Amino acid sequence: MESTTSPLSSRWWSKDTVAVVTGANKGIGYAIVRRLAELGLTVILTARNAERGEMAVECLRNSGLRVHFCCLDVSSPNSIHDFVSWFHQKFDALDILVNNAAISFNNIGENSVVHCETVIRTNYHGAKLLTDSLLPYFRRSGAISRILNITSRLGSLEKVRNPKIRALLEDDDKLSEKQISNVVDLFLTSVGDGTWETQGWPEVWTDYAVSKLALNSYSKVLAKQNKGRRLSVNCFCPGFTQTAMTGGVGKRTAQDAANKAAAIILLPPASITTGKFYAANDPSVVNSRL
Ligand SMILES: NC(=O)c1ccc[n+]([C@@H]2O[C@H](COP(=O)([O-])OP(=O)(O)OC[C@H]3O[C@@H](n4cnc5c(N)ncnc54)[C@H](OP(=O)(O)O)[C@@H]3O)[C@@H](O)[C@H]2O)c1
Repeated sequence: MESTTSPLSSRWWSKDTVAVVTGANKGIGYAIVRRLAELGLTVILTARNAERGEMAVECLRNSGLRVHFCCLDVSSPNSIHDFVSWFHQKFDALDILVNNAAISFNNIGENSVVHCETVIRTNYHGAKLLTDSLLPYFRRSGAISRILNITSRLGSLEKVRNPKIRALLEDDDKLSEKQISNVVDLFLTSVGDGTWETQGWPEVWTDYAVSKLALNSYSKVLAKQNKGRRLSVNCFCPGFTQTAMTGGVGKRTAQDAANKAAAIILLPPASITTGKFYAANDPSVVNSRL
C-alpha cells in the first residue's frame, strides 16, 4: 500500500503539459477534464458526439477554464486515425492520456451479453488502438509521460473462476498481447456457442468485466514494454460512482472519483509508479494485482 501525494504539493506540470481524456462529455471523464484544467494543464476533451462534446466544452469555458475539443469515437479506427492526425497537427507532444471512454448496456443487476462485441470493441480494442496510435507522440521527458486506464475491479483476475483462463493471464513474465487477444476471443466464442455462463467468466456485467480484464492485462504488458522509457502506465478503478453508467447511483460523485484520478495522474515524477492498479474505495491507494 502507498498513498498518493497531493498534486498541489509538488507542481511539476505547467500550461504546456498536454492531457487527452476520452469519453469526456459527461461523468468521470468530464470531471477529470475539469480537475486537470483547474490545475492549469492544457486539456483536450474528446467525445464521440460533437454536439455533446461541444456542450461540455462550453460549460467548462463558461467557468473560465480553457479546454480544447476534438471528436473521438474510440470504437472507430477511422475516428482514432482522424484524431491522431488532428493532434499531431496542433500539438508538439503528449504528456498524459486518460483512457476513460467505456460503455455497458446493462443496468445494475442485469447481465446480458447481447452487445458484447460493441462493449469489447469500445472498452478494450478502442483504448488499445488509441494508445498504440499515440505512443509515438508521448514527450517522455524527465517529468515522465503517463497513461491512466480507467478500468474496474469487476475486471480483476480474481473474478475469473476458470483456471485455464486465469493461467493464461496470471503469469506476468509470459503475458503478451496475443494471449490477451486469445482470452477475448475465447469469451466471444463462448458467447457465440451459448456456453459463457458456465465457463467461469466474471459473474457481474460479464462482457464489461472481460473488456476491463483485457485492458488491465494490456496495461501490464505496456508498462513492462515501457519500463525505463519515461512512460508510466497504470489503471484506476473509481469504485461505484454516480454516473449515467450506474443510473445515477453510487457511493461517490464523479468529481470525487476524478479528484482521485487526478492525484494519481499528477504524482510527482519521483513517485510515479507503473503497472499498478489503483482503487478509489480505499482511504489509501492500493497497488494490487491487475
Ligand atoms: N460509474 C462507476 O461506478 C464506474 C465504476 C468503475 C469504473 N468505471 C469506469 O469509469 C469510466 C467512466 O465511466 P462513467 O461512470 O463516467 O460513465 P458515463 O457517465 O456513462 O460516461 C461514459 C463516457 O464514455 C463515452 N463513450 C461511450 N462510448 C464511447 C465511444 N465509442 N467513444 C468515445 N466515448 C465513448 C460516453 O459518451 P456518450 O455520452 O456519447 O455515451 C461518456 O462520455 C469508464 O471507463 C467506466 O468503465 C465507472
